[in-house]
Amino acid sequence: MGHNTISITDNRTGAQYEVPITDGTIRATDLKQIKTSPDDFGLMTYDPAFLNTASCRSSITYIDGDKGILRYRGYPIDQLAENCSFLEVCYLILNGELPNQSQLEEWIRLVKRRTMLHETSKKFLEGFRYDAHPMTMLISCVAALSSVYPEARHVHDAANRKKQITRLIAKMPTITAYCYRHHFGLPYIYPDNDLSFTENFMNMMWKMLEPKYVANPILARALDVLFILHADHEQNCSTNTMRAVGSSQADPYVSVAAAAAALSGPLHGGANEEVLHMLSEIGSKDNIPAYIKSVKDGHGKLMGFGHRVYKNYDPRARIIKQTADEVFSVTGLNPKLEIAKELERIALEDEYFVKRKLYPNVDFYSGIIYEAMGFRPSLFTVLFAIPRVVGWLAQWQEMITDPEQKIARPRQIYTGSDERNFVPMTQRA
Ligand code: CMC
Repeated sequence: MGHNTISITDNRTGAQYEVPITDGTIRATDLKQIKTSPDDFGLMTYDPAFLNTASCRSSITYIDGDKGILRYRGYPIDQLAENCSFLEVCYLILNGELPNQSQLEEWIRLVKRRTMLHETSKKFLEGFRYDAHPMTMLISCVAALSSVYPEARHVHDAANRKKQITRLIAKMPTITAYCYRHHFGLPYIYPDNDLSFTENFMNMMWKMLEPKYVANPILARALDVLFILHADHEQNCSTNTMRAVGSSQADPYVSVAAAAAALSGPLHGGANEEVLHMLSEIGSKDNIPAYIKSVKDGHGKLMGFGHRVYKNYDPRARIIKQTADEVFSVTGLNPKLEIAKELERIALEDEYFVKRKLYPNVDFYSGIIYEAMGFRPSLFTVLFAIPRVVGWLAQWQEMITDPEQKIARPRQIYTGSDERNFVPMTQRA
């Protein structure tokens, strides 16, 4: 073999092995040949939280966490946020190339055709208590769409996949708006196809008695930018869930519901809601040093800080800070911004955070903007899910069409009892 190999000596047996290295990676199955005896299962790797394991090949999103780089299909995130609409970025993520004018128009037409919810889905949402968490409603409603579109289970039919992908992207804002209006007992607003994707979402959220909803263009654009920033983020917890569930050939609705469930946790997409609660708890700038001290003493985490991959400023957080200024020029300042900025300043000078390379992530400032725009904190994670569905679906499609992929099924290191005989109830301690 050439130089792209690694030589391994098994000190248990003295045997030597040469294992190929491709793309800076060795195949875990190449280690299986390393055995102490013929009936030994062979060497495995142990990586409980996938800290150093590549689970797929992907051409969708590139992240360099040390340099703070994020690109979709090769395009830097800041260029896309500055120049594109959210649906244009969806097309790019799904198809690999930016659309030309007619491709974009056709894509927008297809999405707009599918924004309505089946009336039974509306009734399904009405079955929830008024104070149900919108993330729970979203997860359940998306899973229930599987019963509305049973043909979605034909996951190897490319045209069918495309139809379900379009449906899911189109219906997420409608479901979200219906969750919100259900809480307040407001009548549901049907989609308005004259409007852009984000304007229509605002229409379904906030239209009252005016004959035609007119969205503030600065706020609609800010929402577009926020959606672009959240559209994909390679193999994070929810995307990994989407791929794992989809690998069993489950349909995309139940797979997206599972991915959304993963997103809802406070360490992942649920962090944006937690940041707002944290800022409310801190209350004023004077209380920041004591709050940071309590975090360093092990009482909870600084929500919206830290990332598994970024060991530098999250590039999305940088763009969000700029977007915040534009939003506040319309809505007036959210007083929590001052607390957040001071919290960031103090944390970034503190040895605890510096040493661990903990920087603000995408969730640190997004909630402050959403709140200023009029969204309730319980909706923040749903606002993360609306755009992330694109990433989940692109990654799902890539997985389904990848001949190397099989049903996801990790190994374990068994730590339980050795074989023992059944003990009758009367003889148990
Ligand atoms: N506040 C205080 N300490 C922290 C924080 C934080 N936010 N994040 C990590 N640490 C500490 C952690 O305690 C550990 O310290 P030590 O080495 O002394 O044990 C060290 O930093 C390394 O952390 P880790 O837990 O090993 O890192 P991880 O890669 O497993 O976790 C994370 C990444 C995002 C779950 C974590 O940083 C965290 O819980 N952050 C707060 C929640 C949050 O903002 N989540 C949103 C992530 S970005 C949006 C998304 O993609 O979902």
